[in-house]
Amino acid sequence: MLDFATCLKPHPLQPPFSTSMVMASSALRLLFFPLLLSSILLLNHPVKSDNEDDTLLQGINSYRASLNLTALPHNDNAECLADKIADKFKNQPCTNTTGSNTVPGTEPGFSDYPDLLAKCHLNVSNTQDGAIMPACVPNLEPSLVLTNFTKSQYSGNLNDTKYTGAGIGSEKNWIVVVLTTNTSTGSFVPSTNAASLVSRVDVIHHLLFLLMVSILLL
Ligand SMILES: *[C@@H]1O[C@H](CO)[C@@H](O)[C@H](O)[C@H]1NC(C)=O
Ligand SMILES: *[C@@H]1O[C@H](CO)[C@@H](O)[C@H](O)[C@H]1NC(C)=O
Ligand SMILES: *[C@@H]1O[C@H](CO)[C@@H](O)[C@H](O)[C@H]1NC(C)=O
Ligand SMILES: *[C@@H]1O[C@H](CO)[C@@H](O)[C@H](O)[C@H]1NC(C)=O
Ligand SMILES: *[C@@H]1O[C@H](CO)[C@@H](O)[C@H](O)[C@H]1NC(C)=O
Ligand SMILES: *[C@@H]1O[C@H](CO)[C@@H](O)[C@H](O)[C@H]1NC(C)=O
Repeated sequence: MLDFATCLKPHPLQPPFSTSMVMASSALRLLFFPLLLSSILLLNHPVKSDNEDDTLLQGINSYRASLNLTALPHNDNAECLADKIADKFKNQPCTNTTGSNTVPGTEPGFSDYPDLLAKCHLNVSNTQDGAIMPACVPNLEPSLVLTNFTKSQYSGNLNDTKYTGAGIGSEKNWIVVVLTTNTSTGSFVPSTNAASLVSRVDVIHHLLFLLMVSILLL
């Protein structure tokens, strides 16, 4: 800003110094706004774990492409449940009997599973046909994470045409993939409009915040 003002100053046809200051500050404001916007958006989505989750979904979809299967689109409600389950697992160490190494059917059940569903505005009837696949990989090393899904018992789910969507959540060494179907018993579509209500409140909250920020900047 200072450089801008001093380099223009010697020019005889320059507008008064104060005008160029105002111009500079409004230019600054124009620069600030998108910066603020993007930082708010970034705050909303924890970058680190989202990257691991996105990388795994891309890996799973490449695996499906290699089998001539369609890509699984991202499902928000399945991701919500995956996050809650990863949170339950996060303090368990990785052993050769956890995650994708478990014998099918021996996965520890959670007594509060219905509560986890309820937190995501889901219930047993719209999730029972889905698949829940937890894996434990130290530091979530990406190549090991992918093979824990594509080269384990889970591959039988990943190549199954009945699944049509996926949500992924991770905490510490744990990463959980939840698959959805396009039938009513595995759709992960909340029966009430509670979820959309929450997100609308969220949006209004953000708009109010943006409004306050722009008033402060003016
Ligand atoms: C996928 O489709 C291509 C072309 O249709 C075919 O050559 C290939 O063998 C298929 N791969 C599998 C795994 O079915
Ligand atoms: C798991 O690891 C323990 C100790 O490292 C070993 O004794 C056991 O045989 C392993 N079990 C399986 C199923 O690999
Ligand atoms: C799964 O991850 C573990 C690390 O927790 C690793 O030792 C194992 O080899 C992986 N399994 C597969 C099938 O990639
Ligand atoms: C899917 O994967 C399972 C387990 O790896 C395998 O037994 C089955 O043949 C595969 N099915 C298809 C259609 O690729
Ligand atoms: C559900 O998925 C199956 C397999 O992917 C597809 O054949 C069917 O048309 C889908 N049904 C609906 C209602 O989208
Ligand atoms: C799930 O929600 C639907 C709609 O709210 C309701 O009709 C159904 O009884 C619920 N199922 C269970 C098992 O709670």
